[in-house]
Amino acid sequence: MKDTLLQIKAEAAESLSDANVDIEAVRIKYLGKKGALTAVLRGMGQISAEERPIIGQLANEIRQYIESAIAEKQEELRYAKLLEKLNKERIDVTVPGAEIPVGRRHPLSIIQRKLEQIFIGMGFEIAEGPEVEYGYYNFEALNIPENHPARDTQDTFYINDKILLRSQTSPVQVRVMEKQRPPIRIISPGRVYRSDAVDATHSPLFHQLEGLVVDKNISFADLKGMLELFAKNMFGGNTKIRFRPHYFPFTEPSAEVDVSCFNCDGKGCRLCKGEGYIEILGAGMVHPNVLRTCNIDPDVYSGFAFGLGIERVVMFKYNIDDMRLLYENDVRFLSQF
Ligand code: DAH
Repeated sequence: MKDTLLQIKAEAAESLSDANVDIEAVRIKYLGKKGALTAVLRGMGQISAEERPIIGQLANEIRQYIESAIAEKQEELRYAKLLEKLNKERIDVTVPGAEIPVGRRHPLSIIQRKLEQIFIGMGFEIAEGPEVEYGYYNFEALNIPENHPARDTQDTFYINDKILLRSQTSPVQVRVMEKQRPPIRIISPGRVYRSDAVDATHSPLFHQLEGLVVDKNISFADLKGMLELFAKNMFGGNTKIRFRPHYFPFTEPSAEVDVSCFNCDGKGCRLCKGEGYIEILGAGMVHPNVLRTCNIDPDVYSGFAFGLGIERVVMFKYNIDDMRLLYENDVRFLSQF
């Protein structure tokens, strides 16, 4: 009996020393229900009473021995596998990484946000209006009757007789004044449309930023002071502004407003084409007819309005000479801002 047990121990140790051993098979062979050790324990009944505890103890020791030998072998194999994996999957930290392309804001969005920030800082709120607009808001309510020559320069795309793509952001003025009583202080940035052929300075789609202030005692001096502050914020502290008399049907008096070139300080350079100034917006005192149309009494209230071309500001600020670059979505161009 004792010899059988010792032989079982020796055999088990021998099989576990093999590097490619099937551990589970060894476990079944010696410790399983039909295993060699179990068979010995089953035969205990036939052993004499004095021998029984000695053989029993030895059998238990051998079971423990085989169990721990199996556990040890399992650990050894697991570790060998891990080492092999680590060796195979070695990482070369000197290989250059894969570049992840990061998007950025479009120059038009950068400037629009900057404009919004400046005006919000002066107490303006942002108002929105539809791009598909009634002719009434785009023209009639702005004091531009049918057949008025001012419509020529703002020819746009018509959905039907009454509905068109807005040619300016000015209709938002009317929509706001219809709903809100003074004091009013809003800006409205957005897309506008005109049936213009594409070239370096024209596009059938472009962007404007409208501004409107209506309250008691609003004067041209308020408009001038506000625009001066805006221009210094946008283009630098030395910027000067210049008003040239102009005509807009929805303002009286009206002006076109230029800012001095930040590049040459007004002396004239390539950026401003020798002018020293560049035109960026139209402005004026809201026409009494427009106030009346919106049920605001022009004898009590007055206001000023302005409309700024966002593309113009972008092209001036970044020294871009062809507007088409802003719409072609060429990342080589866009990644420069
Ligand atoms: N809507 C005009 C345009 O597209 C720009 C403009 C001029 C807007 C004078 C105004 C303004 O609000 O007062 O040419």
